[in-house]
Amino acid sequence: MLNFKRNDLCLEDVKLSSLAEKFQTALYVYSKKQLLENFRSYKDACGKETLICFACKTNSNAAILKLLANEGAGADTTSGGEIFRCLSAGFSPSKIVYAGVGKTAEEIEYALKNKIFMFNVESFEELAAIDKIAAKLKTKTRFAFRVNPDVDPSTHSYIKTGKKGTKFGIPIEDAVNAYLNAKKYKNVEALGIHSHIGSQILDIKPFKEAALKIKKTISEIEKNGLRIEYINCGGGLGIAYQKSQKAPLPSKLFSEIFNVFKGENRKFIFEPGRSIAANAGHLLCKVIYRKKSGGKSFLITDAAMNDLIRPTLYEAYHDIIPVKKSAAKKVKSDIVGPICESGDFLGKDRMLPVLAQGEYLLITCAGAYGAAMSSQYNSRPMLAEVLVDGASAKLIRKRNSYKDLLFNEM
Ligand code: LLP
Repeated sequence: MLNFKRNDLCLEDVKLSSLAEKFQTALYVYSKKQLLENFRSYKDACGKETLICFACKTNSNAAILKLLANEGAGADTTSGGEIFRCLSAGFSPSKIVYAGVGKTAEEIEYALKNKIFMFNVESFEELAAIDKIAAKLKTKTRFAFRVNPDVDPSTHSYIKTGKKGTKFGIPIEDAVNAYLNAKKYKNVEALGIHSHIGSQILDIKPFKEAALKIKKTISEIEKNGLRIEYINCGGGLGIAYQKSQKAPLPSKLFSEIFNVFKGENRKFIFEPGRSIAANAGHLLCKVIYRKKSGGKSFLITDAAMNDLIRPTLYEAYHDIIPVKKSAAKKVKSDIVGPICESGDFLGKDRMLPVLAQGEYLLITCAGAYGAAMSSQYNSRPMLAEVLVDGASAKLIRKRNSYKDLLFNEM
């Protein structure tokens, strides 16, 4: 949805420079059209028996969640707080699934009281806890064991989750016994099986490899008289952060996975996050100062690692573009923030036209794990967020004030 109108970079029909002037920078900006298009590329390709649960850890802004809830999305949650946010945004509890290795008793109780659809259970002790709390509340619930299929998606090591030795799920070789042992619990019903192998995955092969292992496991489980109705394949589909990258379409993911289970009467859940939100959002910032030091050029912006931690945490690449087209000669620069750490960078060695102080830059594809992972480090107030819809732009999160920095402190 980014496009140039003459020399001005626009999001849908709104000039980014006008958003910067109206709402100040640094600022998260989102395209409603892109967000909905991304969600529909899942929904339209998946068929009736498949539930698309947006992984709301990706972007949990209330307005963004509401848009997706209105489209009929379900939600993949990972904490009591996320369940609260999703319920507030209007997601039906019957479409909420809940994963996470460390669900507390309070969170389990909250999820049970709100009658969420399914727990994605990550350990035997967790299942025992859910059963006990359900008994106390005189209720019953449904679960899927999250299995660790030991496949290696080639992605950053911090976001590989389906490889042996990570903290996630139970080893797939223990799954049959786990389901058989679970029969002793009277307040939890085994309804499905879950796996999430990692994030920013650009190859379908590891998804298929995991699906084949799961198919084999299900057949062994079912030989023992149990029935696995739902297969939850998690999220993880990547996006093209750089022109050299190519991301598979959701339809390709579905065709490969559905093919593995052809002829079996199953229902499916997918939990995409990044592939729905990432390219729908961007971080707009301003060049405050320029300087040369140690043979390098630096552009110092009013956005920093606390606003977008991905570059420093995962060495992630986000394309950075000036919001005014320029014929000026290009120089190699590091784009850095004002925080007191050398790790505070948004991009390194980028060829950008010579920019003046006060010019605006767009850090692209920051709609996933951008605002959601931001902090107030260095006492930098949380940024404002704006949703663009055609030619209009609406504030969906107010910028925090200095006073907000003291919230809840005594
Ligand atoms: N389901 C589960 C159980 C997950 O843990 C995740 C993400 C997803 C679904 C959604 O995955 P996606 O479709 O977004 O790849 N902060 C990192 C990514 C962490 C992913 C955590 N789990 C980043 O900025 O790259």
